[in-house]
Amino acid sequence: MLKLGIIGTHIITDQMLDAAKTTGKYQLTAVYSRTMARAKEYGRPYGATEYYDDLHKFFEDGDFDVVYIASPNSIHYQQVRLAIENDKFIIVEKPAFVNPSQFEAIESLLAAHPKARLVEAARHIHTPLYKQALAKFNEMKKNHCQGGTITVMKYSSRYDKVLADDKPYPNIFTLKFAGGALMDLGVYAVYGAVTLFGQPASVLYFPTLAKTGVDAKGVALLNYKDFSVTLNFGKTANSHLDSEVYGLKDTLVFDSIFDTKKVTYYDANKQAHVLDAPVAKNSMTDEMNDFADLFNNPEDEEEVKKYQHWLDLARTVNSVMYSLRQSADLKFPADKDEE
Ligand SMILES: NC(=O)c1ccc[n+]([C@@H]2O[C@H](COP(=O)([O-])OP(=O)(O)OC[C@H]3O[C@@H](n4cnc5c(N)ncnc54)[C@H](OP(=O)(O)O)[C@@H]3O)[C@@H](O)[C@H]2O)c1
Repeated sequence: MLKLGIIGTHIITDQMLDAAKTTGKYQLTAVYSRTMARAKEYGRPYGATEYYDDLHKFFEDGDFDVVYIASPNSIHYQQVRLAIENDKFIIVEKPAFVNPSQFEAIESLLAAHPKARLVEAARHIHTPLYKQALAKFNEMKKNHCQGGTITVMKYSSRYDKVLADDKPYPNIFTLKFAGGALMDLGVYAVYGAVTLFGQPASVLYFPTLAKTGVDAKGVALLNYKDFSVTLNFGKTANSHLDSEVYGLKDTLVFDSIFDTKKVTYYDANKQAHVLDAPVAKNSMTDEMNDFADLFNNPEDEEEVKKYQHWLDLARTVNSVMYSLRQSADLKFPADKDEE
């Protein structure tokens, strides 16, 4: 059983703990919160045994192997650094880091701490259905690839506060916490594009800004040698569009690129074939299982291969996200926080 410590006591941590319980491979032991009262209030119902409001003590004294980090985006970097320095296995929520300099610094630190492991919680790429869709598209691509259109657009209830001028604005709508549509939902679209098509040759982002300065929604264009991919994402509207990737005459349709429940292959005769793979009730269960396999066998050859692949993907996604931001001149205070 892997002993689990957590940072961040909001809804996504509840979902992760539910998934962790379903796997039967983790046991929550330690909770860090900015206040002791919140650490206890949050952790007790889950059976935690240790509570901290001091991050250094949490990492130095805490009885846990794995730390799950679900704090605001701009804070991940410093918290992950501490976790690596304490040789932990680390699951950091997406997007792991704000720019390639941070990613590079983290990889150097990982090299100096060979017992530590770091994975980004890109839950959708770990599901059997997504893996099957990827295999199908790799087959389609052998004949021809015409790119795709990926949409991830969901109204955020937190936008109500922005519209109402109700300050402080929610972290996710602030530059200070490296928020915005690209960082929050666009990252799923970018993961989709990178897993399906690889690294683009060039990118462009056309954001619509919220009054807080972050991108509220936007359209991104990823250019590849022979095709392009359009990403449409946002937090201030609801889209009901599917995402599509194209062969020549055949098409693969995802009901959602990040919460994938149904994938349909339309052949050259426009006949529909629904892909058949189990879909877990909690969409974080598959990643928690994959991560447990790595943490329980960190030196196993197959696990090391998977780990390297996840790190490569995370690095590419980080670089594409940064290039998109640069193309739109979107800057975060955290861009200056390296080292
Ligand atoms: N994989 C997914 O599907 C998914 C879904 C949602 C979010 N996420 C990711 O999870 C992370 C957290 O998102 P969220 O929406 O939960 O963020 P959030 O509500 O803004 O903050 C999450 C937690 O961080 C702590 N926190 C809040 N403000 C802070 C501050 N100023 N300084 C230090 N800590 C602070 C709080 O815990 P304490 O009060 O206990 O300190 C809070 O519960 C983000 O990286 C996000 O992208 C992933």
